[in-house]
Amino acid sequence: MPEPRNPSSKPLRVVVLASGRGSNFAALVEAQRRGELPIDVVALLSDRTTAHALELARAADIEAIALKPRDYSNREDFDHAIFDRVAQLTPDLIVLAGFMRIIDPAVVEQWVGRMINIHPSLLPKYPGLRTHARAIEAGDVEHGSSVHFVTSELDGGPVIAHVALPIARDDTPESLAARLLPLEHRLLVATTKLIAVGEIALDNDRVVRHGQPLAAPLRLDDNGHLG
Ligand code: GRF
Repeated sequence: MPEPRNPSSKPLRVVVLASGRGSNFAALVEAQRRGELPIDVVALLSDRTTAHALELARAADIEAIALKPRDYSNREDFDHAIFDRVAQLTPDLIVLAGFMRIIDPAVVEQWVGRMINIHPSLLPKYPGLRTHARAIEAGDVEHGSSVHFVTSELDGGPVIAHVALPIARDDTPESLAARLLPLEHRLLVATTKLIAVGEIALDNDRVVRHGQPLAAPLRLDDNGHLG
């Protein structure tokens, strides 16, 4: 299985896919530019021509590519087309950051171990949509976000890391999402860093750190470290 390891000193080539706002994409780019992340974000691809993420990419001088699903006869054709564009960019790592599509399993299969997703719940809790509302409705005391390797199971691939926050009694899905977002940014940056330096990888469906399987997902602490 291919690994997103980067034994050379060259920065990891990263391609980001996003459908909307793009704040997680921006967090990666900003961390790279601050010199905190040994990656090179080479392109942003979107399935929505109006995605704000595309504007952020253009403003940052990063290649911005939009493909419209309705220009393709079916979902599989679109997925193959967008991932063909991704492949031409020869990424070491693909980051799904708010990419709101279920990707064809045949496509996912080609990138297992080299594609991660950020999902706004403490997986395996609440795969899919409405995660903040579902956590509140269930009476959970904590909520959070996960970064995981992508497999053909929706939001079901091996979890690398979590960030958690307490749910307040008066939280709404909106207030919870707003408090979580900056933590998501830190989680994505910290997790991407561990992959970029070759510390974390996927090995036979298991997340390994320094070659040893993780007993549980890493957790982001208040200092932005994953332990
Ligand atoms: C984030 O909450 C992420 O967890 C989810 O979609 C949202 C994307 O936000 N997958 P943004 O587009 O990065 O601002």
